[in-house]
Formats: sequence, structure tokens, C-alpha cells
Amino acid sequence: MFITLEGPDGSGKTLQIHLLEEFLTAEGYKVFCGREPGDTFIGEQIRQVLMDHQNKNMHPRTETLLFCAARAQLVQEVLKPHLERGDIVLLDRYADSTMAYQGYGHQFDLDLIRSLLHFATGGLRPDLTFLLDVDPQTGLERRQKGGGEWNRMDAYVLQYHQRVRQGYLEMAQADPQRWKIVDASRQPDVVQSDLREILLSFLSNLS
Ligand code: TMP
Repeated sequence: MFITLEGPDGSGKTLQIHLLEEFLTAEGYKVFCGREPGDTFIGEQIRQVLMDHQNKNMHPRTETLLFCAARAQLVQEVLKPHLERGDIVLLDRYADSTMAYQGYGHQFDLDLIRSLLHFATGGLRPDLTFLLDVDPQTGLERRQKGGGEWNRMDAYVLQYHQRVRQGYLEMAQADPQRWKIVDASRQPDVVQSDLREILLSFLSNLS
């Protein structure tokens, strides 16, 4: 079972995914929890290049390829082996982030990005994807106030982040079977309880 969390910056994914990991582990599931880009030796190095403020002149095409490169490594080295063992894989961002940020955000041809993603992932798709939806202004303010990592990607203009959010909403509305939209502007415990409820009902429908 492959579950991803997606959403604009400052949507609270990272806190929520760790709470979900704790919850599923306590329920007796074997869980692998990871984040993108990263979680392999090669992926962490690519992450540093992507996030570094010194790389201000990185072209969006370079950025797109680097995200895909980190993901290709993660799929082969980590995700596939865990899924083959029957573990639950919980991932903080996956291919849909590249669709939202590079496809919709940078306004690249979406079909082209889809093909690139297919190549990078070998066609591995999540079974369930949560969209933690929050308006970008609120998300970015949260992130600045929270004192978290402020990276090269956050520095893109607000209109860019609005296109990202719109992209997410379009993808989620086009495939409601896989995507579940959760209002992430609410208190973290309320958001978590919605996530658990949706997840439990998803798991029980499988058994
Ligand atoms: P994070 O803050 O969730 O760790 O994500 C890091 C940044 O990278 C965030 O601004 C979103 C961006 N990103 C992309 O632009 N494309 C991608 O494919 C991924 C995985 C992340």
C-alpha cells in the first residue's frame, strides 16, 4: 500500500505524516515513512543542490530533472523493496509535486511532465493521495513564522504558489478515487483526525 501526502508549502504535511506513521505503527502495521526529495544517499545530495539559495540561477528545466532523478533513485532503492515486502509506504511528496510545482507552477507542458514522471517512476503510482489544502498566503506565512527551513523554492512569487495550489485542486478533482482533499487550514489535531478516518475506511475497504 502506497500513500502520499501532497500540498502547498506550509500545509503541515510533515507533522501530519509523522502522526500518521505513529498511528499506523500502533495499529500493528509495518510502515516506511519518507520524504521527497531525499531518503537515499544520492537523493539527499540532490536535495541540497535543489534547496541551496546559492543556486538562484537554476533553470526550471534543471530543477525538474533533478526532482525526477532523486525520485528515480528512491523508487528503485527504497520504495519498491518496501512495497514488495508488503509494508505501508507513507511518503511526504511524490510525482504529483512535480506535476504541481514544475508542471502547473512553471507552466511546462503537462503531458511532457507526465511522460518524464512515468520514466522516472517506472509507472509506480500511489494507491491513496491526501491533498492538504491551504491557501498559499497562509501556508507561506505559517512557514516563515514557524522558523522552519526557508528554501530556494519558497522564494518563488505568490502567483507561482497559487498556480501550484490550483494544479493540485485540478488533479484531485479529476481523480477523486485516489485523491482525498483535506482542509489543512484547521488545527493540526482536527486535520489528523480526518486523515485517520479516511485512511481507516480505505484500509477496511481493502480487507
Ligand atoms: P518540502 O518543504 O515539503 O520538504 O518540499 C520541498 C520543496 O520542494 C517544496 O517547496 C516543494 C518543492 N518540490 C518541487 O517543486 N517539486 C517536487 O517534485 C518536489 C518533491 C518538491
